[in-house]
Amino acid sequence: MIKKGNLYFPGKEFKKKALVKSAAIYKEAAKNPIRFWEKLAKGLFWYKKWKKVFSHQPPYFHWFSGGKINITADIFEENRAGWENVKNRVALIWEPEPLEGRERVFTYYQLLREVNRFANALLKLGVKKGDRVGIYLPMIPEVIVSMLACARIGAVHSVVFSAFSPNALRIRLQDTEAKVLITADGYYRRGKVINLKKQADEGVKGTKVRKMVVVKRAANKVEMKKGRDLWWSDIIEKESEKMQPRIMDAEDVLFILYTSGSTGKPKGTVHACGGYTVQAYWTTRWIFDLKPDDIFWSTADIGWITGHTYSCYGPLLNGASFIMFEGAPDWPSPDRWAQVIEKYGVTTFYTAPTAVRMFEKYGKKYLKKHKLDTLQILASVGEPIDAAAWHWYFKNVGKERCPLLDTWWQTETGGILITSLPGIGPFKPTFTGLPFPGTRFDILDEKGKSCPPGKQGSLVLLPPFAPGLLRGVYKNPEKYKKTYWSQYGERIYFTSDSAYKDRRGLIRIVGRMDDVIKVAGHRITTGELESAVNTHPEITESAVVGKKDEIKGEVPVVFVVYKGNKASEVVKKEVVLQVRKQIGPIALPKEVYLVEDLPKTRSGKIMRRILKKLLTGEKDLGDTSTLANPETIKKIKAVIKR
Ligand code: PRX
Repeated sequence: MIKKGNLYFPGKEFKKKALVKSAAIYKEAAKNPIRFWEKLAKGLFWYKKWKKVFSHQPPYFHWFSGGKINITADIFEENRAGWENVKNRVALIWEPEPLEGRERVFTYYQLLREVNRFANALLKLGVKKGDRVGIYLPMIPEVIVSMLACARIGAVHSVVFSAFSPNALRIRLQDTEAKVLITADGYYRRGKVINLKKQADEGVKGTKVRKMVVVKRAANKVEMKKGRDLWWSDIIEKESEKMQPRIMDAEDVLFILYTSGSTGKPKGTVHACGGYTVQAYWTTRWIFDLKPDDIFWSTADIGWITGHTYSCYGPLLNGASFIMFEGAPDWPSPDRWAQVIEKYGVTTFYTAPTAVRMFEKYGKKYLKKHKLDTLQILASVGEPIDAAAWHWYFKNVGKERCPLLDTWWQTETGGILITSLPGIGPFKPTFTGLPFPGTRFDILDEKGKSCPPGKQGSLVLLPPFAPGLLRGVYKNPEKYKKTYWSQYGERIYFTSDSAYKDRRGLIRIVGRMDDVIKVAGHRITTGELESAVNTHPEITESAVVGKKDEIKGEVPVVFVVYKGNKASEVVKKEVVLQVRKQIGPIALPKEVYLVEDLPKTRSGKIMRRILKKLLTGEKDLGDTSTLANPETIKKIKAVIKR
């Protein structure tokens, strides 16, 4: 990499080989973004061409209307790299958590046959086009097979993160009204077998799930309910390895993925077949500069959008080889991730700042044991990557040789929309980079005026948005309108992030403007946490705020108004347990404070902003004129000090 001031640019050699190397692409795309995306769409296989590239009835919009597509045809028989070329290429390498376990490798052809068998089995279970199928699976190949099998027959998959609790699973299944759930007996996590089936049994109570397909992974003891539960291996046994993909409309739903909602109820983001496919293919190709001999590893769990787009669809559409890892990156030793890179000769490594900070904390000594010289591109996602973590990653993992892409996007956007392209750059620590060609972002002040460089404002996406942007919130048009299309009207997509740009137009993301906190990159709203805490019978009220954390970025801190007479240590444990039960272990409170009352406005709204300041010990609490109960401040301060 070449350093110029505080910017880095790709070296000559890298640039020469890069798929995109000229910044002229930005200009060309900006001239007519709709035409630009149309050109990109033509790079994929369609059964029938679209009638209209982009249409807009605010706040709704469509891409490639009238076009007919199936994402699995673009992955398999009609892969743009040519089926004869990709057929026997490695698609997926699965690395189990136990070191003594055996890896599983699937070529494209093998994967296709597995997908077809399972797709035929799903049809036999009565799954039809448009039906929602719940997937509650860990990081095992069958999760990819399940997603692709759904897409193959036109069913809508809704993957639920396997570490979510039964309660979180239930809420999602109730919303999608899925009749089929695909799960596993168990899986390995930090040396332990987690009994997933037991959680699934609990989670389907009160839902419409009639059939549960169970993958045998950990051979742990499970109960199979007669008439409802079926072993995966049994139902695919006699199924044909052949089947034709269902031809889908570009605007048919491909999948629903839930993201934490503000009132405790998660929002189902709806993604469309055509636009998502186009965006997943091209963003993966250009951003990761993917070539046939690359080994791509995105560490994100399949239960999140990064897992969907970059641990499944994106690499597959590109005919690339990618890694799926079952376990935790630091198990059984802190260098497991580096070991995996070395074992498979990973070329492209995509992870989250929280993981980088964890590697950094373990120390450089773990890196010395491994050859990481196959790496060519590093990338980060999920939260702002601070300068220290950026430099550590760049220097110690990439040896100052690899471009470090800071990629910004959201569950809603379906694919990366802001980053520097590896063959062009520039890479500037803590700045994510430029909008992807063909997208128009702006940073607006409260009045909707564009902010000059250096001034912080709301990050917004302007028409024609992006083909992969969500088409709605499942069964909740009001939420869709209110969340994304109300701040600046129905023609401007509000990201909820605040940002500013530098003179070159490079964007720096500052953070969320709403009540979302990012715990180790996991997105969770304070509202969702509060409603989990409030289910405790003796807690009348609670307020959650995010507190800075060295490794996780942010951690939740809970203030509870407790009316019982248990010892505070007991209550604290119960609160943590409550969150684990209602949501899962992803966002357990770091601290729990028992208080008499919470700071509120006259209309009864909790002033979390004040709690946040009290936590950090800031003297200036800002505007407190609307505070109805100022006497709480002193008392809460004392509780925090204790
Ligand atoms: O606040 C931004 C942050 O993550 C949010 C989206 O979270 P989620 O839907 O879980 O998707 C995460 C993975 C795509 C954004 O609104 N975020 C994501 N990437 C970055 C980021 N913040 C700063 N820098 C990033 N690169």
